[in-house]
Order: sequence, then C-alpha cells, then structure tokens
Amino acid sequence: MSLRCVSCGSLYPGDPRLFRCPRCGGLLEVIYDKLKVEGGVGRGVWRYQGALPRLSRVVTLDEGGTPLPRLDNVSRKAGAEVYGKLEAANPTGSFKDRGMSVGVSVALSVGAKIVVAASTGNTAASMAAYASKAGLKPVVLLPKGAVAKGKLAQALAYGAKVVSVKGNFDKALSIVRRLVEEGLAYPLNSFNPYRLEGQKTIAFEVVEEIGVPDYVVVPVGNAGNIAAIWKGFKEAYSSGVIDRMPVMIGVQARGANPLEEALATGSYKPVEKPETIATAIRIGDPVNRDKALKAVKESGGTIISVSDEEILKAGRMLARNEGLLVEPASAAAVAGLLKLARRGLIKEGSIAVTVLTGHGLKDPDFLATITGDEAIVEVDDEKGAARVLETLTDTQDNL
Ligand SMILES: Cc1ncc(COP(=O)(O)O)c(C=O)c1O
Ligand SMILES: [Zn+2]
Repeated sequence: MSLRCVSCGSLYPGDPRLFRCPRCGGLLEVIYDKLKVEGGVGRGVWRYQGALPRLSRVVTLDEGGTPLPRLDNVSRKAGAEVYGKLEAANPTGSFKDRGMSVGVSVALSVGAKIVVAASTGNTAASMAAYASKAGLKPVVLLPKGAVAKGKLAQALAYGAKVVSVKGNFDKALSIVRRLVEEGLAYPLNSFNPYRLEGQKTIAFEVVEEIGVPDYVVVPVGNAGNIAAIWKGFKEAYSSGVIDRMPVMIGVQARGANPLEEALATGSYKPVEKPETIATAIRIGDPVNRDKALKAVKESGGTIISVSDEEILKAGRMLARNEGLLVEPASAAAVAGLLKLARRGLIKEGSIAVTVLTGHGLKDPDFLATITGDEAIVEVDDEKGAARVLETLTDTQDNL
C-alpha cells in the first residue's frame, strides 16, 4: 500500500500520518499493490476487504450494505430510472460511518489516543460512535450554532468532547490542521485519505446491485465523498469488474458553491460566508476540491447548485411521495438531478443514482419546515376522530 499525490503524482509509503504531499502540498490518495474489488463474504464495507487497507484490528458497527430503492416519483419527473442510495441506514445515520470504520481502525493502528475532526455534524456523530467503540477519546470542533440539533445530540451521547468554534466550518477545519501539526491528536477529516477508502464502497455496492448507472449524483460539501465514490468506480474499472464509467454530478447549495463557480469561471475562489439551510454542506472552502474537480472532469460530469427553496421542495417530495425522510443536504442531490432533467441534460430512460447521505431525523428544524401544523387535529372522542376521517374520504385524499 502506498500514497500518491493527486497533484504531482509523487509516491510515498503508506504512512497513516502523512496528510499532504511533502513536495507540493497536494492531497494524497491510497493505492494498492494488489487490488481486488469483487465482493467477498458478508455485507457492508468490509465485504470489499481486497480493496481496503489491511489492518490488524477493524472497528466496525456493520456499516454499509445500505438499501437502494427505486424512486418512482422522482423517476417520473426526471424521465429516467432514479435510485436512492439510503445512507441514512448506516449505524449513525449517515455515509460517514463507512469512512470512520476505516479511519478509526487506522487511528488505532498508529497508537492514537485522541481523534479529532472539524464537522458540520455528521462526521462528529460518526467519529464519536466509532471512537467510543474503539476506546479512543473523540474531540469534535463544530461551527457554533450551525449544526443540526440531532447531530450535536448524537456526538454528545456517544461521549465526544465538543469544542464550539466561533466561526464557520472552514475556520474549525483550519484549527484542526494546526492541532494535528502540533501532534495533539489523530485527524479524521476527509483530508485523511484512509477515511475516503471506506466511503468508496458506495460505488462497489451500486455496481453489485444495479451495475453501472449513467449518472451518480452526490451532494458536495468538503468534496470528499464525490471523490471517494469516483475512486471506487475507477478501481472497479481498472480491475475489470465494470467496463464503463458513470458521469459524476456534484450538487452544492446556492450559497456555498465555490466548486460550481470554479468550473464555470476556470478559477477557484473560496466563498467567505457560506449560507444555506443544508448545514451539512455549508462549506466555503472544500478541502478536497482538487480531487472533486478532477473526478467530475474525468467523468464528463459537472457541479451545479440548488437554492434552499429547491432543497426544501425536494425534501418534502421525498417524504410525501417516496416515504423517505432525508436531511437537506441529501435532498439537494435530488433537487440537482431534477434541475438537470428540466434543462434536458439527463438522457431519457437513463439510470441515475442519487446518494441520500443522511437521515432527516437529525435535523428537527428542517423537519418543522417541511411539516404543516394543519396535519395535526385535536379531538375529544371517537366522534371527533370519525369526523376527521370523513373529511379525508370527502376529499379522496386517503386513496
Ligand atoms: C449529509 C451530508 N451530505 C453530504 C455531505 C458532503 O460530503 P463531503 O463533505 O464529503 O462533500 C455531508 C458532509 O458533512 C453530509 O453530512
Ligand atoms: Zn505532490
């Protein structure tokens, strides 16, 4: 196993404490001497052991192996066959668990005692859960007041020490970088290339279940997941498991869209004050930008953005018409796909997978906005309840 710089191509031994290319400062990725992508035994992330770091102790909560239902209403609207990869079905309710299983196992292998991450919420919840299982101390740096309540509650419940940073996620991440340089803790943000190894298994599972889709649509924040999924498809291709590649589409929130802008203008500029209701992707300076831009360019894809209004609309539609409660960042993926379909950019009858990254229950404020109070009716007795049912029968709403 080695590390390769995605910017200058330099190769290094697979040192789990190397997070930047010593030559050019670029991001690193894990490469294997012997890669085997075919599924092995069992289900979930570790089914693909042949494409993951070999570790003496694996910390797992049975992550991965998530459902992939067909989204009938979204399919109709998009004129395509659309599936949702339900990452909410992971142990802490988001895709981060795939990465944390690998990342926390690597932290153990280097004798770390404290693990640290900046987070918009899900990384914090996930790292805290895996660290508690492994007997490590989790410390999370969260942008003050900008994390969904359920995620904060999760992190605290799993025993994390929460450091509330006056500032946004990008500031919290720069603080993590400094703490790590001082040797105070082992980092589990997605600049750690080992974490992304776990996340690439989303691609392997999709391939096993439905083959190679035409499009994979991923919400983008710090831009690690889209890069990880693309790496998964590339590895499946290079080892002969698949013979064609999907187009990768990244979706950012309108107020936090530095990568959409970078593609449109040809030059990258961070968004100083990112704003969106999708707090998970409220990131103005994505650390994995080079990997993500490379992924969409190589795949012939793009990165677009959607407004908060489009996110809310898609979130409500997923709940009301598909029976899926997802958090705003995940709804952004569906909003993005529908936007491209409206512009005629999704081929008629093609197959698309939207990565539904996290559970709606994590964000009660979002739930409140997609729920109408008018749905709750107070009654005193069965007569009152019967009247409610009669009204429904009258309007045929129950059919
Ligand atoms: C629910 C959810 N969706 C999407 C993302 C974006 O993932 P990435 O930061 O890898 O781009 C995150 C990141 O926190 C997330 O929590
Ligand atoms: Zn380099």
